[in-house]
This record gives sequence, C-alpha cells and structure tokens, in this order.
Amino acid sequence: MSGLVMWHVAAVSFWFGVVGAEFVIERSRADSRPHGYSVARNHYWIDVLLEVPVALVVLITGVMLLQVTPVTPWFLIKILAGLLAVAVNVGCLVPVIKRKAAADEERLSDVIRYSAVIDRITVVGLPAALIALMIGLLH
Ligand code: HEM
Repeated sequence: MSGLVMWHVAAVSFWFGVVGAEFVIERSRADSRPHGYSVARNHYWIDVLLEVPVALVVLITGVMLLQVTPVTPWFLIKILAGLLAVAVNVGCLVPVIKRKAAADEERLSDVIRYSAVIDRITVVGLPAALIALMIGLLH
C-alpha cells in the first residue's frame, strides 16, 4: 500500500469512527433538551473540529490518487459515491450550524426541524460512503 493510499484509508477509517460517534450522540437528543440541547452543540463541534477536516483529507488524498490510478468503470462508481459522500458531509454543516444557533436561542421547534434535515441528509450520505468503502476495499 503506497503512502498516499495509506493516508486515504486512515482518513476514511477515522471518518467512519467519527460518524459512528455522532450516530450514538444523536440518539440522545430528547434527553439533552434539559441540558441546553447538548447534542446540537456537541455535534457542531465534532463537525467543525473533526468530521469536515477529515472529509476534506479524504477528498484531497482521493483526488491526488486519481493522478496515479487507472479509472475502471467500477472504480468510477466508487469515486462518484465518494464524492457524493464528501459533498453531503460538507453540506450537512449548514443544518448543523443552524441547529446550534437554534439551540443557543432555545428555539425548540427549529432544533427539531434541523434534526430531521440532518437525518434525511445522513440517509443519503451514509449509503454513498459505504458503497465507496466496499468498492475501495474489494476492487
Ligand atoms: C466515503 C468516501 C471514500 C471512501 C470510503 C473511500 C475508500 C477507499 C479505500 C478503502 C481505498 C483503498 C483501496 C486499496 O486498498 O487500494 C481507496 C482508494 C482510492 N480512493 Fe477512495 N474512498 C472515498 C472517497 C474517495 C474520493 C472522493 C476519491 C476521489 C475524488 C477517491 C479516490 C480513490 C483513489 C484514486 C484510490 C486509489 C486506488 C488504488 O490506487 O488502488 N476516494 N478509497
């Protein structure tokens, strides 16, 4: 495994770990309400400090690898799925930021509304990331 592929795979692994942790904290949304909507705040900081930077590392290392990797049809699907996963991930920052602002101002209905948006975005992003992972590992 070349150094660059190793960085790519390390970033991908880190990313899946972070997403798993977010999934766990999102399950305690209702419990976090009396505690200043801590889920909204924690998810925001995880996104800003960990998830978006590591998604960008996946993107940058993936684009760099494209210079040295022949693109077969299967691999093209992996790249498109990976790009979709990164785009969805970075795009998800918008509702995450808006939800934190709503939490800071204790606007409960907006917190719930943005949580639903985040769930819908995850339903698109996660399968795309899993497809990229499967093809990346099996190709
Ligand atoms: C969720 C996002 C992604 C996942 C889960 C993922 C997963 C993987 C994995 C597991 C490998 C290792 C393959 C091996 O063992 O050689 C790999 C390699 C690679 N990935 Fe990704 N990737 C993602 C995003 C991207 C993106 C966005 C691009 C391009 C823009 C990309 C381009 C590449 C390339 C070119 C390789 C090198 C393959 C080789 O030289 O063998 N990946 N990826």
